Amino acid sequence: MNMRTKEFTLPEAEAQARAAAQAGTEWWRSAVIYQIYPRSFADSDGDGIGDLPGITSRLPYLARLGIDAIWLSPFYRSPQADAGYDVADYRAVDPLFGTLGDFEHMRHQAHALGMKVIVDLVPNHTSDEHAWFQAALQSPPGSAERARYLFRDGSGPHGDLPPNNWKSVFGGEAWSRAPGDSQWYLHLFDRKQPDLKWDHPEVRAEFEDVLRFWLDRGVDGFRVDVAHGLIKAPGLPDWSGQAAMVEGTSDDSGSSGNAGPMWDQEGVHEIYRGWRRLLDTYPGERMMVAEAWIAPQARLVRYIRGDEMQQAFNFDYLLAHWDAAEIRAVVDSSLAASASVGAPTTWVMSNHDSVRHTSRYGLREPGSRPKGIDAAGEQPDEALGLRRARAAALLTLALPGSAYIYQGEELGLPEHTTLEARYRQDPAFFRTQGAEIGRDGCRVPLPWQAEAPSFGFGPGEKSWLPQPDNFARYAVDQQDDVSGSTLELYRELLRLRRDYALGSGQLQWHAVHSPDALIFDNGRLRAVINLGMQPIALPQGALLISSEPLEAPGELPGNTAAWLKLE
Ligand code: GLC
Repeated sequence: MNMRTKEFTLPEAEAQARAAAQAGTEWWRSAVIYQIYPRSFADSDGDGIGDLPGITSRLPYLARLGIDAIWLSPFYRSPQADAGYDVADYRAVDPLFGTLGDFEHMRHQAHALGMKVIVDLVPNHTSDEHAWFQAALQSPPGSAERARYLFRDGSGPHGDLPPNNWKSVFGGEAWSRAPGDSQWYLHLFDRKQPDLKWDHPEVRAEFEDVLRFWLDRGVDGFRVDVAHGLIKAPGLPDWSGQAAMVEGTSDDSGSSGNAGPMWDQEGVHEIYRGWRRLLDTYPGERMMVAEAWIAPQARLVRYIRGDEMQQAFNFDYLLAHWDAAEIRAVVDSSLAASASVGAPTTWVMSNHDSVRHTSRYGLREPGSRPKGIDAAGEQPDEALGLRRARAAALLTLALPGSAYIYQGEELGLPEHTTLEARYRQDPAFFRTQGAEIGRDGCRVPLPWQAEAPSFGFGPGEKSWLPQPDNFARYAVDQQDDVSGSTLELYRELLRLRRDYALGSGQLQWHAVHSPDALIFDNGRLRAVINLGMQPIALPQGALLISSEPLEAPGELPGNTAAWLKLE
């Protein structure tokens, strides 16, 4: 194993002190949680796909960054039709990523470094290669084996049309015909991801057991995939909208992409109440975070009522444009909605399903196009996007609540916006015949060393998606201990966030003279964000840190943010 970063170990006493400080505080309320996309983080064996030993080797890097927890996207046994969000065995590690022993070692090391470990749970659908679905295919219509999925007879005089008009999130029909069979099965995503029937007691029992399996192995929480999709409206009524994820906000017609009979049904809440009871039987404040692309916030926070999950991703914040009024409105509505149920707010700008915000912020309409950028489209202004992303870090990390960082964000890493079609792997690209560019551009393996093959992602040249040349500039070794680098900026911000207890603080806005400025206090810290192109006057307070060097005293340049210390 090629250890490519400097050795760094958190002294045991410090790790213990951190753990003790977290105990009894409901750590997730203010935690900074770092998303690891395992196939793209670090590759230990040179097959071009990241793995668990690779993650373990880089844990010291994450501890030094100063995060509280890691969340790992799926590493379970899977044919990888949707990069692991198609699980064939929920209790096994896919050989691509290592072994269960590798997981246990990684989990143990993370805890020793004072970091919690959250794993992904994919309950809406299994892989078509899951033993249950295989048994269902081999069993006749009406059999017990089929009752765990949503098999239906087709419509039309010969039953050769889909049972209803639902469309897949990834494009095309949401139904496929069981091979050589009269029936169809539902898949809100790819045809290799059949939806489970959550009214079935065996499905419920199975997932409770899966939760126990990972809780017994010491995980601190679960990120619940497609949390708003498990229960479908009775009778599966037709719906003319498009089942949508990122596009789950209002479209031009004003209809909401997430208001359909497959989303946000009342019955999901009972499931999460049951899981919460189960988690609460374990010591150590185990938590759940909902991935639910629903609006408005008032609906979303129903998933984080006191007896359900602890957190939900705040996608309104991710989707907000680089616009002071819009951001302020989203911050306010998020804080108000989560306060109404006594839950913390989360702040998230990027993840493995959306274009990296560094690139979105470099577009003519900054913050737009979360669903993919390719060479045929407008190319972001890389320097401007990075400048705004650095300012956005001072905004996000000053807000009270829990913040998510998507791997590479701390490097200012841009999207791969010119990836050639022949390399694409996202099923959404294929199911829409390329109309949807897909999510590969944000999933490109991380650069660790500018001069190494695969930029140090693995020991050799291989990288499951090609890395663009500009990744060299962002490599960890180009930024490590380099004053002014984005990595050092994040390290310093996370240290100050902890020192000033910003995650558990309170936000208080200040009146501003510029429509492009945001100014708020959180405890003894004042955050000033200039989203415009022109400089603004810096308010009172001793400068702690700024996202760019300040050129003129008392002035904050355009697309720059600063933290000030209040006396
Ligand atoms: C979630 C995941 C996404 C996946 C989908 C289907 O949205 O984040 O990556 O494709 O669910 O499981």
